[in-house]
Amino acid sequence: MTQKLYIKTYGCQMNVYDTKRMTDVLAPLGFERTEDPADAHLVILNTCHIREKAAEKVYSDIGRIRLMKEKRLENNGDDMVIAVAGCVAQAEGAEIMRRQPVVDMVLGPQTYHRLPDMLEKVAEQKKERRTARVMDTDFPTESKFDHLPEEKVVEGPASFLSVQEGCDKFCTFCVVPYTRGAEFSRPVEQIEEEARRLVELGVVEVTLLGQNVNAYHGTSKAGNTVSLAELIARLDKIEGLERIRYTTSHPRDMQDDLIDAHGEIASLMPYLHLPIQSGSNAILEAMNRKHTTDRYYDIIERLRKARPDISLSSDFIVGFPGETDADFEDTMTLVDTVKYGSAYSFKYSPRPGTPASVMETQVDEAVKAERLARLQDLINQQQFDYNKAAVGQTMRVLLERPSRDVGFLAGRSPYMQAVHMDVRKMLDGKPEEEYTSLIGQFAEVKITGAGPNSLQGELV
Ligand code: SAH
Ligand code: SF4
Ligand code: F3S
Repeated sequence: MTQKLYIKTYGCQMNVYDTKRMTDVLAPLGFERTEDPADAHLVILNTCHIREKAAEKVYSDIGRIRLMKEKRLENNGDDMVIAVAGCVAQAEGAEIMRRQPVVDMVLGPQTYHRLPDMLEKVAEQKKERRTARVMDTDFPTESKFDHLPEEKVVEGPASFLSVQEGCDKFCTFCVVPYTRGAEFSRPVEQIEEEARRLVELGVVEVTLLGQNVNAYHGTSKAGNTVSLAELIARLDKIEGLERIRYTTSHPRDMQDDLIDAHGEIASLMPYLHLPIQSGSNAILEAMNRKHTTDRYYDIIERLRKARPDISLSSDFIVGFPGETDADFEDTMTLVDTVKYGSAYSFKYSPRPGTPASVMETQVDEAVKAERLARLQDLINQQQFDYNKAAVGQTMRVLLERPSRDVGFLAGRSPYMQAVHMDVRKMLDGKPEEEYTSLIGQFAEVKITGAGPNSLQGELV
């Protein structure tokens, strides 16, 4: 019997990957995805704990889902199982259970391969009471990756592939080491097999994922330890896999062989998200980032030598405890010097259990807001300039998905810019509705226009 499954994904790409894999785990039980939570037998909120806003959103969403559940019961007596997964579940599972009696199930990012068992327990408990109380937020000794089923469907020609999880770096602001657990690298052959299966299903581009993906050090069957650069070189040999990206990297793990790979491996795309968080050495130290701005500049110089057209991206936090006006100006100077293709910036959000949250030098909200606005202005300006510089160039773009208008498709440039393309020319007299059959192909695209967040192009 098919049952409907609704999953809402919050947070980072790793959660997007996990959502896809939870879908794979549940498919053999007859679960099919729906976009409408009101229609679902099973609702999973795959949550993010990184900033307070993201975490709070979950509680208001649970409230909305509860109303839908009650309506279903009233309308036709159909039950709904409500599950909270992901990083909020890991960090606050017991509290969710206490505050939200409507939640049947809480599971962490490392236990979702056990979903079938958990659902069985839920069904068992529901024979006796209306809401079940099943919780599994272990960090199991077994790896979930050894227990996930083969993927049977893909969601497009570009796919995520988790290769590394967890973090041992303990930046003083960050919850990830607590929510995802210790650093772990998947074995090399397991990743190769997954990549091959994805290619068989139509994938031509993979983004290798990890909280610290460049700390990857998997073992191979031959017993060697393999670096991220070596893994990329091995994946580059898979026929049909045309593009490789990876995210997120830490400056401390940016090894020479990885920098060199950017100049040597053609399928490795000229884009790197390399967060620095702050341009002030004092703040970097207080954050426990364990590197200086000089080290960062040095990496960037070498990357640009290896691959002159590489597009760089970063994350920034403003208003970290103790950040002075001068520290913030250092961040502005760094951004001004590096010239990013894109970047993300956030107000510091104190997170429970992290060392920075109890520092006495918390920065005023109004100051944070002012700094964020200034930094975002600068970043937006750089991004717009970067996009404008693409106008007139011809780029190879992967046609990934329908765009807003009929006859248009959206994809990404090698540099990660979103590109909206008029593909009617490529249709060869076929009716316009068939334009989606072009998805998965590469096209040579002349860039004709640029906005702050995307490019427009025409096929050549
Ligand atoms: N592993 C990555 C980052 C993962 S979290 C790295 O080391 O760079 C993604 C981004 O969220 C971080 O880069 C940081 O900019 C932001 N972030 C993390 N914790 C935060 C907090 N407490 N407040 C505000 N932003 C935060
Ligand atoms: Fe968080 Fe730092 Fe680990 Fe990145 S490196 S996940 S910011 S603790
Ligand atoms: Fe959020 Fe967890 Fe990712 S806290 S950013 S979903 S690792």
